Order: sequence, then structure tokens, then C-alpha cells
Amino acid sequence: MSRKQLIYINELSKYDGKTVTLNGWIYNKRESKTLVFLILRDGTGLLQCIVSKDDIGDELFEVADSLTQESSVTLTGRVQEDERSTGGFELHVTDIKVHQITQDYPITPKEHGIDFLMENRHLWLRSQRQWAVMRVRNEIIYSIHKFFQERGFIQMDAPIFTGNAVEGTSTLFETNYFEEKAYLTQSGQLYGEAMALAHGKIYTFGPTFRAEKSKTRRHLTEFWMIEPEMAFYDLDMNMDLAEDMISFIVDRVLTRRSKELEILGRDTSKLENVKAPFPRITYTEAIEILTSDKTRILLEEMEGSRIQEDKDLRDEITVLEKESGQAKKGRKIQIEKRLKEVRTRLEEIEEDLRNIPVWKKSALEKVWGDDLGGSDETILTMQFDTPIMVYGYPSAIKAFYMKHDPNNDKVALGVDMLAPEGYGEIIGGGQREESLEVLLDRIKEHELPVEAFSWYLDLRKFGTVPHSGFGLGLERTVAWLCGLKHVRETIPFPRTLGRLYP
Ligand code: 4AD
Ligand code: MG
Repeated sequence: MSRKQLIYINELSKYDGKTVTLNGWIYNKRESKTLVFLILRDGTGLLQCIVSKDDIGDELFEVADSLTQESSVTLTGRVQEDERSTGGFELHVTDIKVHQITQDYPITPKEHGIDFLMENRHLWLRSQRQWAVMRVRNEIIYSIHKFFQERGFIQMDAPIFTGNAVEGTSTLFETNYFEEKAYLTQSGQLYGEAMALAHGKIYTFGPTFRAEKSKTRRHLTEFWMIEPEMAFYDLDMNMDLAEDMISFIVDRVLTRRSKELEILGRDTSKLENVKAPFPRITYTEAIEILTSDKTRILLEEMEGSRIQEDKDLRDEITVLEKESGQAKKGRKIQIEKRLKEVRTRLEEIEEDLRNIPVWKKSALEKVWGDDLGGSDETILTMQFDTPIMVYGYPSAIKAFYMKHDPNNDKVALGVDMLAPEGYGEIIGGGQREESLEVLLDRIKEHELPVEAFSWYLDLRKFGTVPHSGFGLGLERTVAWLCGLKHVRETIPFPRTLGRLYP
């Protein structure tokens, strides 16, 4: 007996001229007296389906006419190549089976506010842009596994309940673990180190949690991190690996997800630049750049150009509004659309104009020892076309496990990779302290409970070796490659301050 198989929209080139049955949902509909144009969505793409009264008869034509947005259907019809259609094919419908006529689908083609869309995230995921983002995310995930698996890394799952704070104690989510305190993990690194001493090269790929109490574009409370850890790697080898990995991911997303990037309106020329080697600059050089005249001039120019753009856009609004009064229906719709774009852009400009003076102050007043904030990273990365790696941060602002520079105790062998176009930190990592005595001192200095780390200290007792690793934030990578402003659209169901549903 032959197995039942489904046919999908993205395979139609195999069925040109043939009759097929497709399953999906109505994305959009246009109709005239004798024709209904349905846009079918099946998860793999969109397809224009033509229902003609003459071909199909009155009864089925009425069924087609009654279909609403997101009604679920099974359509049968003849596939015909058509260059003008999205995807290059059309379906001439011969039969329609309705699963459900959907009433009052809340997300209509008109514009909705972000809060409304977030509350309807479970449905919003069906929209084109969100669909494209999730497919880029999937490609990134696949590429990461491919990259590491092809290089002999063993994937490991670190625990989610843990007794150890890794990245500071201020962002821990505490849970009650049978009357014992447990935290949701901030990072799988410590467990990765144990596994690296068993397997040489490993990577984790799992959820991590941080009680981030502020709303920013780059922070989620639950996010996915990929953490390779390698025995016998020093900081330079760690940086080589990080830049190879990022070049590999970007290349695959560009070649395999060009359609999705197009839907997102991503300027791919910016991503074409992402080729190893990436500039490696020390933290000290980063501070020099931030406090330089070049940075001051760059920000002043940015401010000037925003002010000019603001003025131009306001003039455009005046002109458009005047024209709208006498315009015909078609032109009026065009004008409305443009006005919406202009107003959105004006809001962005206003935000920039509020931010720039704050950014400028933060950058120009930086002194050695200060941590780099989001805006500092933005300013730094604006000055490069590729990601950059900043290494050698002050040890005082870095985690307890970081190895210090043997020549300068004030400097830690840590590295952050900052993505261009203002995206900022996507990777944090470095070389680990391998000495038992030193690590023990550090744990005490950081006022961490030594007892909870006794197993970790064993790794320095039994065959300790130099080793390094890093953590890549998946959502920040998705935001960068998709060109999204905010990480909330990069994960199916984002968890942020104040959002637990859907
Ligand atoms: O720089 P972080 O804190 O490094 C670590 O956790 C190390 N233990 C990693 C390691 O060496 N194995 O976090 C790593 C990355 C950041 O660069 C960022 O991309 C992402 O994780 N990240 C977040 N992404 C979204 N929301 C948050 N709240 C994030 N915090 C960190
Ligand atoms: Mg970091």
C-alpha cells in the first residue's frame, strides 16, 4: 500500500501542468463577479489560487466567495507556471474542501500596534514577516549545529536547574527545589568546562535565564545560548573559532534564506561584508576610539543629519496632506501609506535625537575601567563594516572565572564580539582561569559560596589545562541578520519584563 503524502507550495515546480491537492489557510482574497483570487498559505509559501465561476459551478464559487482570512481549506486544482505570481506558479482551482470558516481573525492587513501584536503572538506568527524571521532563526540554528558537528565538537545539554551563579548574582531567577534554593541557569559554561575535559571540544545549545529588570532592545529574560568550550585553546584560538563560526552562519543565511531576507527588506550588502578576519581591538583601544574627536564628530554629524531629515519629512507631510484633499481614491491610499511611513520614521528620529546627547556624554567621558554600555557598543560598531572583537577588558568588571593577563593583572583575557550596524554584543567569552589556588581566591573575592563550587574546583584539581570558550546569544544574532530593531520578534514566544503570555 502506498503511503499518504502531502504536497506543499514550495514543491510545485515538480507539478507544472498537473492536478494537485494542497492544504492551508486563506491569507488574502480578492473577488470580482466571476472570479475569486485566493492567496493560500501552507507554511512553505504563498500561492495565488484562481476560482472561476465558469469552471467550478455556482455552488463551489459561493463557497470560495465565503472564505475569510485564515479560514482553513483543502484546495484541488491544476498547477500553472506564471512568472508574475509570487513563487512563479498559480493554481486553477477545481475543488474546495472547507475545514473551518474563520470569523473575525484579529490580525488584519491594516497596521496594528506592537502591544496588540505581542498579545496575539500565537497568531502573529502566521504573518509573512514573522514567518520569515522564524525561518532565518531556524537556518541559524541548523548552521550552528552543522559548523560544530563538522569540526568534531560534541553537543551537550547543561542543566537548567542549578545551584551555581555564573554571571553575577543580580540576575538570578530563584526557584524552590524541594525546599532547597535552586536557580534557573544563566549560562551552561561551568558544566561545559567539565564536559570539555571529558571530550576536548563541546558546545551547549540551550535556554538560559536572566532576571533583567529593565526593558531594552537587546534583553530577554529567557534566551538561547550556544556555548562552545575547548580544552587547550587560548584566547587567540577562541577568537579564531568565533569569527569562523559567525562567517559560516552569515554565509549560509545569505545563500539559503535570501527569499526571507528579501521579505524582511534586509540590506544584504551589509551582510556580504561579514568575512573573517574581523578586526581585533583591545578594550584600551576601544576606549580611545570612544573618547576620540572622530567619535565626537560622527555623533555631531549624525545629529545634524537627523535634524535635517526631520525637517524634510515634516515638509513632505505638509505637501502630502494638502494633496490628499483633492486626490482620487487610489492616490489617497498611496498617500496614507506614505504618511504612515513618514510618521514612523519621525518617531525614530525623535528617539535618536533624545539619545544622541546621552550617547555622546557616555562615550566621550569614558575612562579606563568603565564597562561598555549598549550605546558605547553602538558607537564603536558604527565605525566598522564587519563585526569586531574587543578583548582584554578590565578584570574588575568581568566574571570570577576569567583568566587574567599574566603580564597585567588588571586585564582579563575576555573577549566580546560586537555586531555591526549598531547591533553590539552578540558573543561574550574568554580564556578561563585554570589554577586551583587563583580560582579559589577569585570565588572568595566575588563573595560566591565556595561550597557550591567545590565540584567546579575539582576540574582544576584533576588534570587542569588551559581552556577557553564563549557564548553566542541566538536572539541577538537573529535580530542582527534579519535587521530587526528589537529581540522580541526573534523568538517564537518572547519572555521579557512584564510578558509571560501567550
Ligand atoms: O556575555 P555573557 O553574559 O557570557 C556568558 O554567559 C558566558 N558564560 C559565556 C561563555 O563564555 N560560555 O552572555 C553571552 C551572550 C551575550 O553576548 C549575548 O549575546 C547573550 O548571551 N545575552 C543575552 N541575550 C538576550 N537577552 C539577554 N538578557 C542576554 N544576556 C546575554
Ligand atoms: Mg557579556
